[in-house]
Amino acid sequence: MEYVRLAPAVTNATKLKETENKTILNNMKVDVLLGLQWGDEGKGKVVDVLTPRYDVVARFQGGPNAGHTLEFEGKKYVLRSIPSGIFQHGQTNIIGNGVVLDPVLFREEAESLEKSGVDLKKILKLSKKIHLIMPTHRLLDAANEKAKGGAKIGTTGKGIGPTYTDKISRNGLRLGDVYHNFDKKYAAARDRHVAMLRSMGEEPEFSELEQKWLSAIEYIKGYDIVDSEHLVNKLLADGKSVLCEGAQGTMLDVDFGSYPFVTSSNTICAGACSGLGVAPNKIGEVFGIFKAYCTRVGAGPFPTELFDETGKLIRDLGHEYGAVTGRERRCGWIDLVALRYAIMINGVTQLIMMKSDVLDGFDEIKACVAYEINGERVEDFPFSIEEDEIKPVYVTLPGWKTDMTAMKSEDEFPQQFKDYIAFLEKELKTPITIVSIGPDREQTIIRK
Ligand code: GDP
Ligand code: IMO
Ligand code: MG
Repeated sequence: MEYVRLAPAVTNATKLKETENKTILNNMKVDVLLGLQWGDEGKGKVVDVLTPRYDVVARFQGGPNAGHTLEFEGKKYVLRSIPSGIFQHGQTNIIGNGVVLDPVLFREEAESLEKSGVDLKKILKLSKKIHLIMPTHRLLDAANEKAKGGAKIGTTGKGIGPTYTDKISRNGLRLGDVYHNFDKKYAAARDRHVAMLRSMGEEPEFSELEQKWLSAIEYIKGYDIVDSEHLVNKLLADGKSVLCEGAQGTMLDVDFGSYPFVTSSNTICAGACSGLGVAPNKIGEVFGIFKAYCTRVGAGPFPTELFDETGKLIRDLGHEYGAVTGRERRCGWIDLVALRYAIMINGVTQLIMMKSDVLDGFDEIKACVAYEINGERVEDFPFSIEEDEIKPVYVTLPGWKTDMTAMKSEDEFPQQFKDYIAFLEKELKTPITIVSIGPDREQTIIRK
């Protein structure tokens, strides 16, 4: 079956005609949208923009460490565990088996969405195989960070690492367990965690949070808790199309990211297969999303980080503060060595460039095309990117010095911006099919 690419003639994603949607849908399989940098690339915004083209939107990994921001009609939402496909035309949204879920945070998020009019219980399905983040996982996350001292990862503190650790060590508690001898399984896991915490010198106190957690478990039972791998595959067999929404980014992937300063899941395209139960041959387009510059939150190496006024300017203009923790995001120039690697690992077929508007006023823009390591030029992403070993090799490009935030079509792009896109496409050997010029849903240009 031939795959049809994004409708090329459309200039505004939200104004797709029904007929155009149909043409695209008929040939679709499972498309994946994922971050190519260290997260916060703008995944939530673009998933929302693309949702009208799909029947199903699904999260496949990560948990409430994610913060996906959507802005439309003057409103702003930050989603953490719930997919970004809930605001369009009643598409089915799935939280897949690869996700770790904190019932308390899920309840807060869901209740607030229900208050703003989203009929979540109707459209959202949760996998029975989701692993549950327990109150003691959060305490273990904090204790692990404390024990690491100066080498701490700077996690989001949401219990992500300990929950995935329990999954892999075969000690985890799954959402489907709520119907199978749950109290006993919960107590055993909790007691095990308490013993671990005590062995680390902690005296855990979490009775209040535990009550909230147990009450949130009852709340979740009001949702459709399903065998989501069967559901997804049945929908596909019925000709439905699925968009998988990545969390974090490739540089935070537990296998290929800047280990050990990574998250605990596979954020890459392969994660969509294991995190939803879809076979690799079902994957169609892979949308790789990146900022026109680069950011990172938390600790760990970042070769193109800027410690000067330019870095500060990018942070201020781009409002680069964490959507979950409010922490300052570290800012730097775009890193094409890391991007080429991410494109390779994920099999990216289309690139999406975000936040170019942040650079609208810059005289010059830099792009890292290679690293210099011990005097040698390196273009393939190396085993280690520790700062003291690496010097980025930059090329300097002229800025476009034009406010692009109100543009509606690529025909309006200034020449220098067109040149920047052409430069990136050549370096990355992949087409940039969407450009985002502001946080709002409408500020999205689909290229011809
Ligand atoms: P995600 O985790 O990948 O979904 O990204 P986040 O929501 O954590 O961070 C992206 C931030 O940039 C959010 O505050 C968005 O509202 C904002 N944003 C998204 N696209 C654009 C854009 O093109 N321009 C600007 N200025 N902001 C954007
Ligand atoms: P979204 O989906 C940016 C970072 C943390 C920390 C490391 C490990 O919004 O792009 P964890 O709590 O996962 O054990 O933390 O990963 N991190 C993110 N950074 N965006 C995210 O998600 C992130 N999720 C985790 O800051 O450095
Ligand atoms: Mg985010």
